[in-house]
Amino acid sequence: MDPKRRLVNYSLLALAGTGGYFTAGTLFGSLEPPKKALLEAATLIDTTTLSPNTVSFFSWLKKPIFIYKHDASVPFDPKRDVAIGAYHYTIMVGICTHLGCVPKYEEEAKEFVCPCHQGYFDLRGYALRGPVSKPLEIPPFDAQGELLLIGQAGEAYMQLMEANG
Ligand code: FES
Repeated sequence: MDPKRRLVNYSLLALAGTGGYFTAGTLFGSLEPPKKALLEAATLIDTTTLSPNTVSFFSWLKKPIFIYKHDASVPFDPKRDVAIGAYHYTIMVGICTHLGCVPKYEEEAKEFVCPCHQGYFDLRGYALRGPVSKPLEIPPFDAQGELLLIGQAGEAYMQLMEANG
């Protein structure tokens, strides 16, 4: 074999042997969804448009999202709330932690009631009574200024996860 060609072959073999990790890394990197797709998978909410001391409803990836916006008259709960501007927000996935039905918000009682087996959650999503024992899940979110991006885990979300152990 031509010595130059042999050198090229050895080089290719060496690359194949030692470069697999980098190749896979590069390949997976190129398969990562572009930012645009990430944004399409997220729900962007302008918190200034939400009414204080009430619950607003959104959806993220076809899941219901409940957001309870409250002012300083309601004590801050470090396990459930995030502060954005002058308000605090409790962000919850509106799927019952018992067997997955969608709780309804009862304005008068200020509770979420699951119609399937009468599970009750309070405004922060804590389980109150009925067959429910776990609070409503907190979706990944990121707070950027007065904007909330549901679907991306930002610093405030990570802090809540840490506070919840
Ligand atoms: S699914 Fe909600 S209480 Fe059973």
